[in-house]
Amino acid sequence: MKKYTSINDIDNLQQTLQEAITLKKSPFQFETLGKHKTLIMLFFNASLRTRLSTEKAAKNLGMQVMVLNVSDAWKLEFEDGTVMNLDTAEHIKDAAKVLSQYADVIAVRAFPSLKDKQKDESEYIINSLVTHASVPIISMESATGHPLQGLADALTIEEFKTKKRPKVVLSWAPHPKALPQAVPNSFAKIMQHLDVDFCITHPKGYELNPEITKDVPIVYNQEEALKDADFVYVKNWSSYMDYGKVLSQDTSWMMTKTKLGNAKFMHCLPVRRNVVVEDAVLDSESSIVIEQANNRTYSAQIVLKSILKSL
Ligand code: CP
Repeated sequence: MKKYTSINDIDNLQQTLQEAITLKKSPFQFETLGKHKTLIMLFFNASLRTRLSTEKAAKNLGMQVMVLNVSDAWKLEFEDGTVMNLDTAEHIKDAAKVLSQYADVIAVRAFPSLKDKQKDESEYIINSLVTHASVPIISMESATGHPLQGLADALTIEEFKTKKRPKVVLSWAPHPKALPQAVPNSFAKIMQHLDVDFCITHPKGYELNPEITKDVPIVYNQEEALKDADFVYVKNWSSYMDYGKVLSQDTSWMMTKTKLGNAKFMHCLPVRRNVVVEDAVLDSESSIVIEQANNRTYSAQIVLKSILKSL
């Protein structure tokens, strides 16, 4: 693997998942692969799980890790040919080349503005790094995708499934803030590569990018969508069509124990209790969110392992 900025960078998902399951049983089996190699993690936005699980994964492979919160560095310029006489102090062209002197792999987290759809969809931050850095780039969540999360989600379903082709439902939930579409995008993408019966349920107006959801059934009636589900992945996202807007805070879309039935509950975390999902779900045996968060380490480790092997 030469980079990991999208689910599309995975060549063979089934093989990757099986390798991750094996790696999880023996996480230190490649502990010298990353010896004398450095991962730099750049954060434009906050993180708990991604930051710690990616660092843990790198250390399990023997890598050294350096973390930079970008707000502590010089303000970066991304426009080509700009006369930099305003508040940006360093061009990404120079920063990316310098970072490549210190790192063997660069991981970056950069959320969307949710104001300028075209700019967000250009993925200018992560793509500038791909263009100007001379080392592999990993997305730790960008404007339109969260591929490390998506891989951990697929791994979790692979581990917990009790039938060959489980039914998986991605269910929108209310939230007071406008959140990105990155997590549902990557989940919808990876589910189309798994042997699952997958559908998405949300109120009208919350359709994700149709270039991502393609032929995935959209069911506007949540109760109908949840019928006979084996896994229910609950997530809020803001409108894609009315870009970045909160169109509804309809509390009836919150996940409850009654609605969940016999399904396993999934969420990427962090989650707002009793807004997105009631306590009775999160505190029950049906919730696999902690196991899902644990799998973030192994999804990052399998990606880093593959990248290290390509160096
Ligand atoms: N799920 C996830 O990416 O968590 P963090 O935002 O805490 O990294």
